[in-house]
Amino acid sequence: MKAHKKEMVTAQAPGKLMLLGEHAVVYGRNCIVTAVDAPVRASVSPSDEFYFDARDLGFSQAVDVRESDFPKQVAFAAFAVKNFCERFSITAPVRIATESIVTAGRKVGLGSSASVTAATIVALSHFHSKNMSRQEMFELAFKTVLDVQKVGSGFDVAAAIYGGTLLYRRGEPAPLKCDKLGLVIGYTGIPASTVDIVRQVAESIRNQPDYYEGLFDEINRIVINGKKAIESENWQALGELMNQNQGILRKFRSPSESCGVSSEILESLIKAALDAGAYGAKLSGAGVGDCMISLAPEEKQESVADAITKAGGTVISCLANVPGARIMGEGN
Ligand code: MEV
Repeated sequence: MKAHKKEMVTAQAPGKLMLLGEHAVVYGRNCIVTAVDAPVRASVSPSDEFYFDARDLGFSQAVDVRESDFPKQVAFAAFAVKNFCERFSITAPVRIATESIVTAGRKVGLGSSASVTAATIVALSHFHSKNMSRQEMFELAFKTVLDVQKVGSGFDVAAAIYGGTLLYRRGEPAPLKCDKLGLVIGYTGIPASTVDIVRQVAESIRNQPDYYEGLFDEINRIVINGKKAIESENWQALGELMNQNQGILRKFRSPSESCGVSSEILESLIKAALDAGAYGAKLSGAGVGDCMISLAPEEKQESVADAITKAGGTVISCLANVPGARIMGEGN
C-alpha cells in the first residue's frame, strides 16, 4: 500500500436555499439557488478499515464500502467513498468523520445531504492528491446523491460544490453575481421529505402531464426574469417574482388539492412576512414544511423576522451567497 503523505484532511461545504424554480428544475427547467452558511464538514484520515463517524447522528462504526445498502446516518458519505474509490481504483481504507457545524442545518432542510456528499468528495480528492476540477467533483457528488436517493435535480450539490448564487439547469451551473440578498428565513417546525414530495408530484404529473408542463414553463419564465432582477439588483422585482412563483406552486394538484406543495403553516409565515413589508415570500425547497424565505429591504428585515416568529415560525439566521466547498485544513 502506498503511504499517504497527508495525515488528516478536512473539507467544508455550504448548505443551500432555493430562490426560484423548485420542482420545475427536476423536469429540465432552470432554477436559482444560493449557497448558505449552514456548513457540513468531512475529515478524512488513514485507517485500517473503512470507518464512519457521524457523532451528531449517533453513528460510529466500520462500514463495508463494497456494499451499496448503507446505514442511513452515513449513506451519503459512504456512497461518496465507494464512488470515489471505484473511480480512482483505490483500495486503501480511510476513516471519515462528518459533522454539521450549524446543527440546525441538518434538520431544517438546508441541504445537509448534498453538503456532506460534497465535503466528503472534496476532502477525499485532496487526501489522495487527485486534481479534480469543480465540474468533476460536482458530477461525482451528483451521481452519489442519485445513487442514494434516486431522485433530484442536483441543484443542492451544485450549491455545495460551487457556492455563491447559481442559475442552474440539470448538470449545468452558471454563477450569478449577487452581493446583497436581504433574505429572512423562517422554519416551519415541520421536517419535509424531499424524496417523498418529489415522488408525489411525479405521480400527479403522470395523470396530467400537459397541465404540469404549462406550470413548469411558467416557472422557467419567472426564473429567467429572476436572473435579470438579480443582475440589475432590482429587489422589488425579484420579490414580485418570488410571489408569482409561490402562486404557481399553490396550483400543483399534489400533495394538497387546495394549496399544492404549499401548506397552512407555510402560507401563514409567507403572509406574515408580506404583511410586515417583505418584497416577496415563498416556500423554498420541496414544500409542505421545512423553510420559507422572504426578501425584504434592510430597514424592514427585523419586523419581518418578528412577524415570522409571531406567526409560529423560527427565524434561521444564516448568510446567503457564501463560497462553495473548500479545504479547511490538513494535519492531525
Ligand atoms: C427540493 O429542495 C427541490 C426540488 O426541486 C428537488 C430537486 O430539485 O432536487 C423539489
